[in-house]
Amino acid sequence: HGYDLLVVGSANADLVVAVERRPAAGETVLGSDLATHPGGKGANQAVAAARLGAATGLLARVGDDAHGRLLLDTQRACGVDTRGVLIGAAPTGVALITVDPSGDNSIVVSPGANARLTPDDVRAAGELMAAAKVVSLQLEIPLETVAEAVTTAGRAGAKVVLNPSPPAPLPVEVLAACDLLVVNEHEARYLLRDAPAAAEGTPEAWAKALLARGPRSVVVTLGAAGALAATGDGTAVRIPSPRVRAVDTTGAGDAFTGALAWRWGAGDELTEAVRFAVRVGATAVTRPGAQQSYPTAAEVAAL
Ligand code: RIB
Ligand code: NA
Repeated sequence: HGYDLLVVGSANADLVVAVERRPAAGETVLGSDLATHPGGKGANQAVAAARLGAATGLLARVGDDAHGRLLLDTQRACGVDTRGVLIGAAPTGVALITVDPSGDNSIVVSPGANARLTPDDVRAAGELMAAAKVVSLQLEIPLETVAEAVTTAGRAGAKVVLNPSPPAPLPVEVLAACDLLVVNEHEARYLLRDAPAAAEGTPEAWAKALLARGPRSVVVTLGAAGALAATGDGTAVRIPSPRVRAVDTTGAGDAFTGALAWRWGAGDELTEAVRFAVRVGATAVTRPGAQQSYPTAAEVAAL
């Protein structure tokens, strides 16, 4: 296997402004100077895993523009193999982000080139897919592209990890084909919108109801409370997070998932991999931005 982890997903330029509070409809507020950071859920996961030491590749699409070059440069500087990053067809995806004093963010994404990553692009990257132990996906690229990648990865013998973010109507067969589903509260409730009793229950109830739809394992992230790891044999374990001071939570979930996908694919027990990933996510929230806030393995150990 050439890759510990191949991420198939989005790459965005994150345009970030700090605000005292978000504007209501029709209102204008003044914020900080603009910061432009490399982001996007797919590119974030790839950087997270590579910084920790995983042999990582990224299959994505960026525009032929300055934002695309920023993303490619960052991936390469972190040691990500970018042979799978296609260039052109539309401007690089952009995320318009406001961060408030509590470290919470609101994001609007313009998918741009991410929306032009096609099933054909995935088929053309068959060799890369075949070289991966784990293929990790999110939902900032077209659903039919995600479906194609899930099928190709399964056929190639790679484990499939999916973080269905941002939530979208997921074909049942895609959910069923996941080896590991990673959801936060919002994503869990969305996937269970046709099962209100389960959706209103505890994270343990969400995990149980989601496992019944086919994924072999489910991890529910619980923010500052850590995460829940659940497997088909009925075990569900809560793993707490170290207490940290949150500065910027942007992309902390992506760091968590990239780290988890790598460690779990490398053979760690799910609970062990989650314990590690929780510490990676906790470190990421203590620093501004997404990718540039992600820790090395030494920093995780020191936390
Ligand atoms: O998950 C965080 C990411 O979501 C940001 O980097 C932004 O690009 C959006 O895609
Ligand atoms: Na951060």
